[in-house]
Amino acid sequence: MNQNELKKSLAKLPLGEIKYFDSTGSTNDEALAWAAGDAKDMSLVVADEQTAGRGRLDRKWFTPPGTALAFSLILRPTPNEKPYLSRIVGLAALSVAEPLVRRGLSARIKWPNDVLLNECKVAGILTESVWSGDQVDCVVIGIGVNILKGSTPLQARLEFPATSLEDALGQPVERVEVLRDILAALVSLRPQLHTDKLMTKWEELLAYRGRQVQVETGGHGSITGMVTGLERDGSLQLRAEDGKLRTVRFGDVRLRPFA
Ligand code: ATP
Ligand code: BTN
Repeated sequence: MNQNELKKSLAKLPLGEIKYFDSTGSTNDEALAWAAGDAKDMSLVVADEQTAGRGRLDRKWFTPPGTALAFSLILRPTPNEKPYLSRIVGLAALSVAEPLVRRGLSARIKWPNDVLLNECKVAGILTESVWSGDQVDCVVIGIGVNILKGSTPLQARLEFPATSLEDALGQPVERVEVLRDILAALVSLRPQLHTDKLMTKWEELLAYRGRQVQVETGGHGSITGMVTGLERDGSLQLRAEDGKLRTVRFGDVRLRPFA
């Protein structure tokens, strides 16, 4: 992967500028700094290796060189998109999952920010915002995908099982092809951000639908219930053991299959 190859492969997509790094701390950090400056909508930061890749709440995301996709896309939301920013993580997850489904894989979205293949994590998403006063100016969508076998960290370092696209397909794939598919999906889904159609697609690919899960809510215990669907803002809906519907909002929450 290099800047020229990327530019050539992504030339047909309506992107802003592209920055490529052989190695960087975190593409989200590069993108946040760029977004706070003059980055255009749909500008892209890609790295072959991340030395300080982040998940939510500063948990680590591993991106060894030569094997994984790590990139961050800068969105400058339009006034029409601003009421729907809580759906952007779903837009991103669908953009990763739909092309995998088109490859014949049964990709599922583990709410709120992971994509699973065979119940193992193949991709993670970290969305972060740049504010201007009380308004969101930019959203950075950071996506990490395990492409080749060597990208999957040792299980001992993880709290949830991981896999790679090569493991699931039984053959290696070109990283740039996967990147192009994800970005093309995002370009075509973005105009649906405000629609029920987007929410239906997101719900259809939700992992554990109809199954019991446990959601740990950082420091406040956990909720157990059956996944029933999503609220309009993208919050998760569960039917608790007492039969009542409960809403799990974004934040310090971790979802696990239960029993
Ligand atoms: P969880 O995955 O535990 O449900 P999460 O989706 O909220 O939680 P984060 O807390 O954002 O994930 O942190 C990322 C987590 O992903 C880390 O805790 C680590 O265990 C795991 N991880 C790191 N790198 C990879 C990778 N390349 N592939 C799969 N999982 C990874
Ligand atoms: C998660 O699983 O919780 C989210 C992981 C997000 C990882 C991606 S890799 C590209 C971008 N840069 C980062 O430091 N994080 C995101």
